[in-house]
Amino acid sequence: MSAASSKAAPAKAAAAKDDGKGEASAAPDASAGPLVDRKAIKAHMIAGFVFFFAGLFAGMLYALQFSRLYPFPGVELLSPGRVRMLHTQSVAYGFLLNLFMACMHWIIPRLTGRPVLSKKLSWIVFWAWQATIAAVGVTILMGYGQAIEWGETPTFLDPVIILGAALMIANFATPIIKAAKGKKLYVTLWYFSAMMIWLPLTYAMGNFVPQYFVPGAGGAAITGLYIHDLVGLTITPLGWGMMYYFVPIILKKPIWSHTMSLVGFWGLAFFYPLNGVHHFFFSPIPMYAQYGAVMSTIAVELVVVTVIANFFMTMRGSGGALKSSLPMRFFFTGMVLYGITCLQCAFQTTLTFQKVIHFSDWVVGHAHLVMFGVFGSWCIGAVVLLWPKVTGRAWWSHKLNAWNYWLTTIGIVVMFLDLLVAGMVQGYLWQNLSPWEQSLVSSMPFWHLRSISGIAIVSGQMLMAYNMWMTARQPAEAGAPARAEKAEAMGAAVGAS
Ligand code: HEM
Repeated sequence: MSAASSKAAPAKAAAAKDDGKGEASAAPDASAGPLVDRKAIKAHMIAGFVFFFAGLFAGMLYALQFSRLYPFPGVELLSPGRVRMLHTQSVAYGFLLNLFMACMHWIIPRLTGRPVLSKKLSWIVFWAWQATIAAVGVTILMGYGQAIEWGETPTFLDPVIILGAALMIANFATPIIKAAKGKKLYVTLWYFSAMMIWLPLTYAMGNFVPQYFVPGAGGAAITGLYIHDLVGLTITPLGWGMMYYFVPIILKKPIWSHTMSLVGFWGLAFFYPLNGVHHFFFSPIPMYAQYGAVMSTIAVELVVVTVIANFFMTMRGSGGALKSSLPMRFFFTGMVLYGITCLQCAFQTTLTFQKVIHFSDWVVGHAHLVMFGVFGSWCIGAVVLLWPKVTGRAWWSHKLNAWNYWLTTIGIVVMFLDLLVAGMVQGYLWQNLSPWEQSLVSSMPFWHLRSISGIAIVSGQMLMAYNMWMTARQPAEAGAPARAEKAEAMGAAVGAS
């Protein structure tokens, strides 16, 4: 395929498909009607939020266990270990992937000028995905979790997940393949296409190889690869692709450097898969593999700098958008947190630093910052941007959205800092060979604070969900589309914030 990307593609595509109004003003316009299946997007967003709440409440419940306040002691079905798996699976596969699918439904037809393969297939994928993730939750609570980190999905559901992913890929890849014939593809489509190749390979590798073919330290190395690739080769290309699409659209200017976006793409492809072993420093995995992971992690650090720099240079001179556009503020916050996450990685990948933080809450703080602070912020920003477009109604309340922004951002930053310090305290106590109980007692205030920051996050998201509900319930009165359009033109104006 001829796949050189086009610098101004999103802006051009928007102009081509939105009667010259530009993507950002495409609210309930009819021009994109046959291209974009708004109902499917709406459904994925609703399902994403349902699983989000399931995941959040499971996280809160599990956090209570650390504070010795677990409300269901002795109930096997709700034992904390199972609830933890429910938490991570719901937020990853239910929340993030549903919202990413919603965004792909919006972006791919617009960038390719073609609808997805089949509307019917979109709905089959939608229902199959929700049923499977619900089944994963129920079976995990029943005790069928697979003993593989991030691969806890019961073994008998793994083939169903791969089948669901294959159908999803067929639906989204078709317009890209058709558009690629003799034409240039924008960098967002490069990322999405690569994700479609990497996702099934990564999933099959992580769930089947250590379980059936490679036991022991070799299997652990593959599990490390899997954990890392699931984030790096599935969620990261989706997130980066989304940013390369939405940011130029909202700011109404092309990305700063097209070349850098491609360096980032190829860098991700080459260096990311080699990082996996950095999850298992000081393990029986041979030291040459551990040193290799250190080197490739440093290489990835350079790669992410291209994306972060491209974002901030594109933002240069457009700082006003942070005030006028709430989605942009979510995207910006996510990018700042991404910078912090990557800076953290630079320290974490040294063996000196690992001696302190390994097995501590530092790692949990890092996981929350990247999964929620970064990708969660981007996904929620996309919902703020797209919900009025798919419902055809202006936001019921901009104030509630702004409240959600502050509660969520403060919540995740406090949770991150709290776990960061907790991790240092634990690490140094363990290094000093203090009694184990001492580290538990010292951790207690940090664990209480984590629950409090969780309450802020849950409250913010409840406001957002209520706002989505009230927005969708509004009658589509005469003024609504105009208001929605105006709000979208501003990237969903913040109102009083
Ligand atoms: C109400 C907010 C939340 C609370 C109270 C919470 C709480 C927790 C707790 C207690 C754990 C287990 C930590 C351990 O085993 O030591 C955990 C793990 C995890 N959570 Fe959350 N969580 C919240 C929100 C989220 C969100 C929104 C995401 C992602 C979008 C997320 C992603 C994760 C991940 C990836 C892990 C695994 C961390 C690791 O193994 O290192 N959490 N969470």
